Amino acid sequence: MRLSPTLFTAAALAALTSTAFAQSQAPLKVGLMLPSTGTFAALGDMIERGFKLYVEEQGGKLGGREIQYFKVDDESEPSKATDNVNKLIKRDNVDVIVGTVHSGVALAMARAAKDSGTLLIVPNAGADAITGPQCAPNIFRSSFSNWQPGYATGVVAAGKGYKRAMTITWNYAAGNETVKGFTEAFEKGGGKVIKDLSLPFPGVEFQPLLTAIAAEKPDVVFAFFAGGGAVKFVKDYDAAGLKRSIPLVGSGFLTDGTLEAQGASAQGLITSLHYGDEINTPRNTAFRNKFAVTYKTNPDVYAMQGYDAAQMLAAGLTAVKGDTSKKDALYAAMNKAQVDSPRGKFTLSPQRNPTQDFYVREVKGNYNVVTGVAVKALADPGRGCKP
Ligand code: BEZ
Repeated sequence: MRLSPTLFTAAALAALTSTAFAQSQAPLKVGLMLPSTGTFAALGDMIERGFKLYVEEQGGKLGGREIQYFKVDDESEPSKATDNVNKLIKRDNVDVIVGTVHSGVALAMARAAKDSGTLLIVPNAGADAITGPQCAPNIFRSSFSNWQPGYATGVVAAGKGYKRAMTITWNYAAGNETVKGFTEAFEKGGGKVIKDLSLPFPGVEFQPLLTAIAAEKPDVVFAFFAGGGAVKFVKDYDAAGLKRSIPLVGSGFLTDGTLEAQGASAQGLITSLHYGDEINTPRNTAFRNKFAVTYKTNPDVYAMQGYDAAQMLAAGLTAVKGDTSKKDALYAAMNKAQVDSPRGKFTLSPQRNPTQDFYVREVKGNYNVVTGVAVKALADPGRGCKP
């Protein structure tokens, strides 16, 4: 039997519609690409727990669709990142990728997401280019750009009247870009960065660099480290006798999720970040209580960012009733959502990076206690993004 062109078009349309309908009823495939080994393993674990907590709070469904998880351990290893992300895109055919922690790995993920058109939500890695020159309509971030916490900490350090600063970090995108943000604000505030020190990621041979700091005697040291490396650095800084003589400040990753292991060495440290344990709002209290009951441990900034990645996805999926083929509407709804985050409500910049408050925090016991706001509604400049 031959169909007339009109009947053929109608039949093809019906087949397409029923395929889209069937797809929008099937479980949504979520690819979690996070580190579960290496110095950032605990950070990846917290992101996954936060993401899953929000999904569970919604009865296990987002936009009416069950969630099916696919997982890849990225090992915080940039050289394996393209192969790893393609396991999710090409082998598992996921609808959305959530990842990752390490900026170098995330840059490769963003390239693959841009090429394939797969929705990517970055729940930590701050690489500036992701919401800068590498931006794309299908790439979102629930966390921060590296520039943001660096800049906010620069404002705090300049505000304390420090004039001569040294910086120390791992030599990779996150470290270098955070230091750049710090330097921009610190020097705008009247200070001068007299020397930048670094070591390869994820090295922890801090001793020669601590000796250089002791010799130079700056007014303040700014550090970016996170996870296991942050634990070792804060302890080594104290053990070298520097904590008593040269104030140490950092972007909040230096003391987030690390305080039990850092113990007395972290007490009193001042950092800046878009989250703090003691934000006294009903939203944060509810999140912290639920997380603690579910996982028998307190959440940290990484858990909060994972939770908000799920909230952002939910905002998009609800708008399209779970139909991910409606990409323009899905992305538009994610972009204009106001996210009711434990950190405080936030919106996304045109480059799809959170515009958010950065807090001043002080370590007291096992908590990063918020003592003020460093910069309100800080937006990443989004330099180089052509939306
Ligand atoms: C990063 O590589 O972007 C990163 C890692 C840990 C904490 C913050 C940023």
